[in-house]
Amino acid sequence: MSEGITSTGGAAAAAPPTPNRSGLDLINLTKAFPGGTLAVDDVNLHVDHGEYVVLLGPSGCGKTTTLRMIGGHEFPTSGQILLDGQSLVELPPYKRPTTTVFQHFALFPHRSVVENVEFGLKMTGVSKEERRKKALETLQMVGLETLAERKPRQLSGGQQQRVALARVLVTNPKALLLDEPLGDLDRLLQLKMRVELRNLQRQLGLMFIHVTHNQEESLSMADRIVVMNDARIQQVDDPLTIATRPRNEHVARFMGDNNIIRGTVSEAQGSRLVITDANGVKVSVQAGNDDQRAVGAAANIAVRAAAVTVGGGAAGDINSIDTEIVFVEYLGDLVKLHLVAGGERFLAKVPGDQYPTLRGKEGDTVRICWKEEDVQLLAD
Ligand SMILES: Nc1ncnc2c1ncn2[C@@H]1O[C@H](COP(=O)(O)OP(=O)(O)O)[C@@H](O)[C@H]1O
Ligand SMILES: [Mg+2]
Repeated sequence: MSEGITSTGGAAAAAPPTPNRSGLDLINLTKAFPGGTLAVDDVNLHVDHGEYVVLLGPSGCGKTTTLRMIGGHEFPTSGQILLDGQSLVELPPYKRPTTTVFQHFALFPHRSVVENVEFGLKMTGVSKEERRKKALETLQMVGLETLAERKPRQLSGGQQQRVALARVLVTNPKALLLDEPLGDLDRLLQLKMRVELRNLQRQLGLMFIHVTHNQEESLSMADRIVVMNDARIQQVDDPLTIATRPRNEHVARFMGDNNIIRGTVSEAQGSRLVITDANGVKVSVQAGNDDQRAVGAAANIAVRAAAVTVGGGAAGDINSIDTEIVFVEYLGDLVKLHLVAGGERFLAKVPGDQYPTLRGKEGDTVRICWKEEDVQLLAD
């Protein structure tokens, strides 16, 4: 599953495609719309069979266009799309071994559940009997076989969603493409469907490519997250790495709850750098082997709010700042401390049980600190 993390954005050279390599390959995939919008810019990505990949990024960054090119609903300006080494680009959607679950999948209200599922096979020329048999088998897979004769309105929202999934699964696709599949659901159903969808994917062992702008959704569901911004891939990694080791400032900001400090290298001893910002805040970090920087070079870092400790440290210490509490935000399991120092904002997330001692402390000064190992040097 870890094979072929081929992209960290347009600058990275694409791995040359292996003939007949298993899985999906997007190679230098680009889409420019008439009028000049570059919606997808030189995307390189490999996805294995059985993998749950989430394309994550802000609205307009090119997620849907990427998915539509894979599904055959949009034609690339340049680049290739290979599934198991075979090009998909020339094939119309219904001839591709991919199936798309659209953002607003409408079930036919006057047809029964099983008839709705059968509809997925209509384009394929399968006989009526065979359609019914396959539809019932698929309903069994999603646990709805006993509800086959009901109408959609007699089902819960979650059950309707599963019917919609059964309708696409019945065609036996090699990859399922889902565009904001949980976007329209209320919060509680969303949380429930995350687990259901993920379990179903594991059970089926099928490649799922899921598009969302929701960070938490991507972290909770993906084997790997592809973070996009402005038509390009910014980072491809597993959820833990995306959350704790954002590659650049885009990813650190988009994932949220990161403190970003922008400065220059003031000391460099081997791979250990000390970075100083305009206010004299000093941060130390271990630079990666491929990211050595000299004294005087620009260097920005990120520290997760959850890695920040309140109290401790000494005045003027590296990895420590005296800050003023601006707002104490209680969120049940945790407290977000909104802080300011030298005109810059900082954020600390501490366990909810610290709320009684922090409540009402707006205006107080607190020293915050963090460990060097929690500092992430940003690429750009
Ligand atoms: N059919 C189209 N014609 C022109 N521009 C489009 C079209 N579809 C999408 N775009 C533009 O391409 C960019 C990427 O859109 P999209 O892939 O839908 O983003 P996302 O799904 O990440 O929100 C946006 O700037 C959008 O306005
Ligand atoms: Mg979209």
